[in-house]
Amino acid sequence: MTLKTILSVGAAALALGSLSSAPAQTPGKVDFEAKILPIFKDRCFECHQKEYTDAKTGKVKKPKGKFRMDNPELLMKSGENGPNVVASDAEKSNVYKSTTLPDSDDNAMPPKGDRLTKEQQDLIKQWIAEGANVGAWKGAEK
Ligand code: HEC
Repeated sequence: MTLKTILSVGAAALALGSLSSAPAQTPGKVDFEAKILPIFKDRCFECHQKEYTDAKTGKVKKPKGKFRMDNPELLMKSGENGPNVVASDAEKSNVYKSTTLPDSDDNAMPPKGDRLTKEQQDLIKQWIAEGANVGAWKGAEK
């Protein structure tokens, strides 16, 4: 290869590179089942799902705060502390707000383990702001 070809191949690669480096995070709707449900499953379901018997301890686990997040209708229901999910209004939605509270706050969720990352909190916020749509998700029986 001559120096000239090397240079022009390089320039072409640069041009391609700048084309594909368009915004990494294209603004778009947050896909509930792809982005939000995994967070809920990982960090919330342990305490907020239909009553179950813990396989290890044999203890019956009831949903904490009588709040279930494993069914779309129950997830959207209001509880003792106010609305859990207000479509399009994250600031009024406890499912979002509780994750942003400091550890020292009694209402901070999840109450044990690490706080959700800022990225996870923001995803939940965006999902609610966009209307809290769960798509085709059916969840568990009521
Ligand atoms: C280790 C158990 C545990 C985990 C994990 C947990 N919670 Fe909770 N949650 C509780 C308890 C206990 C209450 C009831 C607190 C009360 O009534 O004062 C509660 C209450 C709530 C409430 C208020 C419900 C209502 O109707 O008033 C919301 C909202 C909530 N949790 C959201 C979440 C979210 C979101 C996650 C995951 C990011 C989560 N929780 C994870 C234990 C947990």
